[in-house]
Parts: sequence; C-alpha cells; structure tokens
Amino acid sequence: MTSSDNQTKPRKTLLVSRDGELIKMARGAIGSSGAHQIIIAEKSISEVGAEVRDGQFDALVIDMDATAVGDFEHLQKIKRMTGPSTAVIVISQNFSPAAARILIQLKVTDFLIKPLATSDFVRSINNVLKNSSDEAQVEPQFLSFMGASGGVGNTVLALEAAAILNRFGHRIGRSTCVVDLNFQLGSCAEYLDLEPRFDINEIENAPERLDRQLLDVMLARHKSGLSLIAAPNKPSDMRSFKPALVIRLLDLVSAYFDYVVIDLPRSWFPWTETVLMGSNRVFITADMTVPSIRHARRVIEAIAEKGGKQIQPKVIVNRMDNRKNVAGLNAGDVTAALEGQLAGTIPNNYMLVREAVDRGVQLGDIDPSNNVSAALSAILLSDSEEAAAQSDAKSSLLSFGRKLLGRKAA
Ligand SMILES: Nc1ncnc2c1ncn2[C@@H]1O[C@H](COP(=O)(O)OP(=O)(O)O)[C@@H](O)[C@H]1O
Ligand SMILES: [Mg+2]
Repeated sequence: MTSSDNQTKPRKTLLVSRDGELIKMARGAIGSSGAHQIIIAEKSISEVGAEVRDGQFDALVIDMDATAVGDFEHLQKIKRMTGPSTAVIVISQNFSPAAARILIQLKVTDFLIKPLATSDFVRSINNVLKNSSDEAQVEPQFLSFMGASGGVGNTVLALEAAAILNRFGHRIGRSTCVVDLNFQLGSCAEYLDLEPRFDINEIENAPERLDRQLLDVMLARHKSGLSLIAAPNKPSDMRSFKPALVIRLLDLVSAYFDYVVIDLPRSWFPWTETVLMGSNRVFITADMTVPSIRHARRVIEAIAEKGGKQIQPKVIVNRMDNRKNVAGLNAGDVTAALEGQLAGTIPNNYMLVREAVDRGVQLGDIDPSNNVSAALSAILLSDSEEAAAQSDAKSSLLSFGRKLLGRKAA
C-alpha cells in the first residue's frame, strides 16, 4: 500500500524496547515478513551490544529514557557502532528541550513521544527508510463529506472525489482509500459493486486488535486501485460505536494511504467532531432546495460551535439547475444564501449518475468527460491553494493520530 511495498530488498528495522504496548503496536504495524520487517530486541538500551551493528539494519528504533544521562551515553555508543548510514529513531516518554538538543547533536534521525500513534510510528520509519532520491513522504489528506439532508448525493460525490484523487494520485505514487462511516446503512460498497468487508463485531470491544494485517483483510479493493472500508449493512442494528474504534481505524488508514475520503453519516455521533477536526477539508453536500440549503447553514453553524475556526466547512450544491425561471431557487439565490461558504455547484445529470449507481461503476467509466466529474475536479483543485496553506499549518504539527492523541491528553 505504501511505496515501500514496491521495493524488492526487504528493509529491516530493529526495535529495542521493553515496553509491551509499543512492541505490540510495532508488530501490528509492520510485521516480520514482507518488504519491510521489524525485529524486536526486548531489552533496555543499556543491554544492547554489537547486534545493532551485526544485524545490518536499515533503521534502529530505540525506546529510552530521555531524562537519564546513562541512556544518552548508551545511545552515543550505539551511534558510534552503527555509523551514519543507519537511521536512528528515538522514542521516549518525554523530552526536555535540553534532551532534544543532545539528540540533534547526536544526529538522531527522528524522535517520537509516547504514547505513540501507529501512523506516527509507520511514517517516521518510512521517512527514514526513504532513499534520498525519493520525494519526502507527504502527510495524508483527509476529505470529509457530510450530507446536509438525505439523498442529496453525498455518497455519489464522496466516491467521485475519491475517484478523481485516485486517478491523480496514481500517477505520482499516492494511494486513496474511501472510509464509509455509515456503519449501519452505508451505500459506498453498493455503489462501487464491492463486498463490504469491515467486520465491526470482531474489533468493537478491542479496537487495539485492529492492525495492518486485519485492516488488509477488511479492505475491499476496486479495480481502479481505490480501496474501500465499509461495513456490511445491518438496517435493524442501530448500535453506536465507540470513538476509540473510529479513531483507531482512521489512525491506521492514515498510516497507509495518502488520500482518505470519508462518507460521514448525517446524524451526529460522539466521534463526528473528532473526524471533522482531523480532516483537512470538510464538504457539506446540499441540493438545490430551500430546506437543504437551510440545513447546510445549520450544519455549518453547529460545526462552528463545536470546532470553532479549526474546521472550515464548505458547501457543495449538487444537482444544480442553472436554467433561468426554474420554479423555486435559482443559481443567484443559492450563491447569496451561502455567501462565502460555497465551494461550488455540481450539475444535475440524472442519466449519468443513475447509470453509474445501477451498474456499480464510476462516472468516468461511462463518460470520461462528464460534467459532474469536471465540476467536482474544479472544486477539489480550485481551493487547493487555500487547502494547501491550511494543511501546511496542520501538517507541521499533526497527522490524524497525533492530533487525536493530543486532544485526548488535553
Ligand atoms: N449530480 C447528480 N445528478 C443527478 N442525480 C444525482 C446526482 N448526484 C446524485 N444523484 C442521485 O441522487 C441519489 C442519492 O444519491 P446518494 O449519493 O445516495 O445520496 P446521499 O448519500 O446524500 O443519501 C442517487 O440516486 C443518485 O443517483
Ligand atoms: Mg449516502
């Protein structure tokens, strides 16, 4: 799923730690076979000997106490033994500014603070294992779509956005995943004609069991290259899911995919706000009716109340009719009603969308130059500068998991 999968020679990382939680997380995230392998040395830094040199590891991950002078001395010894070609990542419970300075002087490649999100761990290792010729790994982009009212085409637009990003990303080696968070009544799988494989029952009470292997099993893959996480529909089963499950899922997904498109349910769950906060871009889908536009405005107000300025949702008006004298709203009314909050409009194309949905194919498969995809592409690319500015500000601090962990601690 990541570009490291394409490399032929396996990359070996040694983790030195006595922390059972960390070891479990690392095993789940990387595994001991395949293109990238993790080897565990269940010992403290003081017990590490020549094996760090003899094992010819590409990277060492050292779990140490960054408040202990003795640990720094051992770290220095390890650095001397392995030389500059082995990347060293340090993990510690806490870092003082003084400790950070020493680590920089020792030319440690990266340092991470516990508790650690899987995504941070995986990305840190992927970054240090990159050949210098490779482009730096990008932070994942999260795009969330939420319907202002029912049946406005939220799922159609989320899937089409994912198809656009997937085509674009394919050319530059980036991967795309759709996550259908309508756990009970999702339609993403149906629209893509895929079997939903995300089995919530299996992990509901133990979200930490969800690791890369399990995620692989629970992903559905579309022939276009798009991956999908969607649960089988259980219309009579109105349970609610713990935020920890959703957070764990998105953290994992963010470790392995570059673009993540989320189809959000319309009703507000305890995790909705967190998902919105973790998203680089939030779109509210409305259609060209007075109630739907009003709903969209209410959703935006609700989001502002909960998330303040951190989340800046934009409205997409779907099934737009640009004819003059249409009964009800016209284009001017829509623009006026959503002043400053309109991302753009999508034309009404009943034949095209209906055929795509019925046949379980993407819009581009029916007509590569269709007007729905064109309008949506323009929206996704038009405020891309703004989005880039926003996500720059975010990405310096946070991947999805980092942000969530930070919030939990706060
Ligand atoms: N741009 C469009 N033009 C015409 N019909 C559309 C368009 N977008 C969506 N639809 C239709 O609207 C219906 C609802 O779409 P869906 O994405 O399932 O809505 P939601 O997820 O908001 O409930 C679908 O039958 C779809 O064919
Ligand atoms: Mg839907």
